[in-house]
Amino acid sequence: MTLQIAVMNETAAAERRVALTPDAIARLLKKQPEVAVQVESGAGAKAGFPDAMYEAVGAKVVKALGKVKADVLLRVTPPSAKEVLPLADNGTLVMLSAGADSWKTFAKGKRNVLALEKLPRTSRAQALDVLSSQANLAGYAAVLAATQHLPRLMPMMTTAAGSAKPAQVLVLGVGVAGLQAIATAKRLGAQVQAFDVRPEVAEQIRSLGAKPVELPMFSVQAEGGYAKALDAKAQKQLQEELAKVIAGMDIVVSTAQIPGKPAPVLITKEAVAAMKPASVIADLGAGGYNKANGVKGGNCPLTVADKVTATANGITLLGETNYPSQLAGDASRFWAANMVNLLALLVKDGAADFSDELVAAMRVVKEGKLV
Ligand code: NAI
Repeated sequence: MTLQIAVMNETAAAERRVALTPDAIARLLKKQPEVAVQVESGAGAKAGFPDAMYEAVGAKVVKALGKVKADVLLRVTPPSAKEVLPLADNGTLVMLSAGADSWKTFAKGKRNVLALEKLPRTSRAQALDVLSSQANLAGYAAVLAATQHLPRLMPMMTTAAGSAKPAQVLVLGVGVAGLQAIATAKRLGAQVQAFDVRPEVAEQIRSLGAKPVELPMFSVQAEGGYAKALDAKAQKQLQEELAKVIAGMDIVVSTAQIPGKPAPVLITKEAVAAMKPASVIADLGAGGYNKANGVKGGNCPLTVADKVTATANGITLLGETNYPSQLAGDASRFWAANMVNLLALLVKDGAADFSDELVAAMRVVKEGKLV
C-alpha cells in the first residue's frame, strides 16, 4: 500500500515557509519507500526550492491539488476554511494550529487533525518539535531585526574617529528563542545579560559568555520543561527589579512565555518610559505563536503585533510575529526535518497509525470528532 502525502502552497499572509523541502523528501522516500509525495506547483518557491528541485528527488509536482485525495496533508499554518483540501475523507491534516477554533473547522467526515503545538516537551519529542526548531530561528532573527533599528554599533570599536562602547543587550526568558538570542547578540559583540525565572538556566547563560541577572527570589519550579506563572505580587516586584536593568539597555529581546497563559508582562509602560532614547525592544510574544495557543499578548503591553512602533521617548518596539518566515529556507528545512521524524512515527505499513504516544498527544480531531 502506498501512503499519499500532499504539500500545499501556504496561504497565510506573508508565510514563505513550506512543510517539506526537497532534501527532506529525498530522505523520506529512502527511509519509507511506502510513501509518495505530491507537491503543489510553487509551494517551495518563496523558500528557495523551485518545482524542479522537488521533481529531481522523486516528488510529483502538480499544478493544482484540487482533485488529489491525499492520506496526509502537511501544512505550516492552518488552511483557511474556504480552501479545498487535497485530503481523503479519512485523511490526516498536520499543521501548527490556530487553537481550538481551527480544529473545529477541519473536524469533518472521518478526518484526523494533528496540532503540532500539542507535542509534549520531552527528550524523545525533540526531533519532531517545530515550536523549538522555529523559535531558535526567531531568537536569531529578532536580534538582527533589533540591530537594524538601533542607531549604534553592537561591538566595541576603536577607530581614528573615536571609539564606541559595546551595546548592552538584555534577553528576557531563556528558553529556545532566548538562548539563540543570547548567542547571536554575543557573536555580534554586544554585552549581554539575561533573566529567566528558572534558576537552572544561569549556567547556560554563562556558558554563552553572557551574564545572568540574578534575582533568586523570583525562582519558580519548571513542570514538563515549562515555568509556572508567578503570583501577582511577585510579578509586580519582578517588573520593578527588571525595570532597573532595562533602564541601562540598548536592546531588550523578550521571549518569556508560559504555554496556555498570556505572556507575563515583564517590561511595563513605566520601564519603557525610563529607557535610554533610541533603544529597541523586540517582543517575540507579541502575537503569532501565542495566538496559535489561543493566547494573545507579549511581554510588553505597548507592543503591537506585526507592527514596528515608536514611543514618545523614542523607543522602537518590534512586534513581528513570524520571524521564521524571514528565514524561510532554513526554517523550512528544519520544519521538514521535524516532519520526516513525525512521519516515521505516524506511518506504519503504508497507513496512518496514531498509537505512538507523541502522535496521540497531537491528535486534536479523531475521525471527524474533537478529542
Ligand atoms: P520557551 O518555553 O522555550 O521559553 C520561554 C522561557 O520563558 C522559559 O525558559 C521560561 O522559564 C521563561 N519564563 C516564563 N515566565 C517568565 C518570567 N516571568 N520571567 C522570565 N522568564 C520567564 O519558549 P520559546 O520556544 O523560546 O518561545 C519564546 C516566545 O517566542 C514564545 O512566546 C513564542 O510564542 C515566541 N515565538 C515568537 C516567534 C516570532 O516570530 N515572533 C517565533 C517563535 C516563537
